[in-house]
Amino acid sequence: MFKTRITEMLGIKYPIIGGTMMWLSTPEYVAAVSRAGGLGILASAMYQSKNELAVAIDRVRELTEKPFAVNLNLFPAMRAIDNSEYLDVLLEKDIKIVETSGHSAPEDLCARFKTAGMTWIHKCVGVRYALKVQDMGADIVTVVGYENGGATGKLDIGTLVLVPSVVDALNIPVIGGGGVSDGRGFLAVLALGAEGVIIGTRLLATREAPLHDALKQSLVTASELDTILVMRSINATHRVWNNAAAKKCLEVEARGGTLNEILEIAAGVNAKRMYESGDLEAGILACGQGVGLTHDVPTIQELLDRIISEAADLAKKLASE
Ligand SMILES: Cc1cc2nc3c(=O)[nH]c(=O)nc-3n(C[C@H](O)[C@H](O)[C@H](O)COP(=O)(O)O)c2cc1C
Repeated sequence: MFKTRITEMLGIKYPIIGGTMMWLSTPEYVAAVSRAGGLGILASAMYQSKNELAVAIDRVRELTEKPFAVNLNLFPAMRAIDNSEYLDVLLEKDIKIVETSGHSAPEDLCARFKTAGMTWIHKCVGVRYALKVQDMGADIVTVVGYENGGATGKLDIGTLVLVPSVVDALNIPVIGGGGVSDGRGFLAVLALGAEGVIIGTRLLATREAPLHDALKQSLVTASELDTILVMRSINATHRVWNNAAAKKCLEVEARGGTLNEILEIAAGVNAKRMYESGDLEAGILACGQGVGLTHDVPTIQELLDRIISEAADLAKKLASE
């Protein structure tokens, strides 16, 4: 059940993509998503050098023979990233699936994706961006609605409208998400015409996600009201968990603080400290509204199997009524 063009093109069992998560999409986590039947995506921006990225790719391959992808980050980053060099590594390592995400379509890279015969997925938040990358030769477009954890862009379109709008506008397959936490959301996104579903926030509260247990427990008790948008003032809007660091970021933005003041709060080192130490207020955690539907900390395999069986039962029930 739930075989689509996406499962076929990516060679995966379930049409579920484990969204790239900066500092969390480690080889171990990525391999766990892929072993569970989804598509894990390694976050190349986590690695400081080509060699470190190459080692991480090798590590995923040691852990699983299943397909996985590597993300190239197109968002403005605190450390300048040369994606062209990272793409050299992907090609040397014969990576078959590349995901790009960020503010601009990767004009400088896409010819190389095409020549190498890679399957290129681009993630964005609006019809016009999706059409642009389809014209550039993208094989698959991922769109995430306003509910999603992480970058939300500036269009603020919810998943329920964004996904069918993009499906109608494109002729290549679409992966949809933003707020998907269970079988109901999964089935709904497929019903909207997507052929795959991307999940980020719900996967934070899994046994393999590399963040402190205290943080996972806080996510389990959080509600759909516990996220806010930060960094809109610097054109880098992110939906994040509403903790002390996020509130401080908003305060600095409201009083017209400098870019440096904002980036100091949003710095990855603070998030990493929070993930490792369990200090719940130390940094900013990207987090979507689907956190309100997160009630336990299963393994990734248990979560993905549960989503699929819930969705299958629900589809049968709806068809028989
Ligand atoms: C903690 C966290 C970190 C993320 N980091 C990135 C990232 O580095 N690059 C990226 O393209 N998307 C990132 N995302 C977005 C996810 O890949 C995915 O698109 C999103 O989480 C899907 O929506 P959902 O959170 O409602 O499931 C992140 C999301 C979370 C929750």
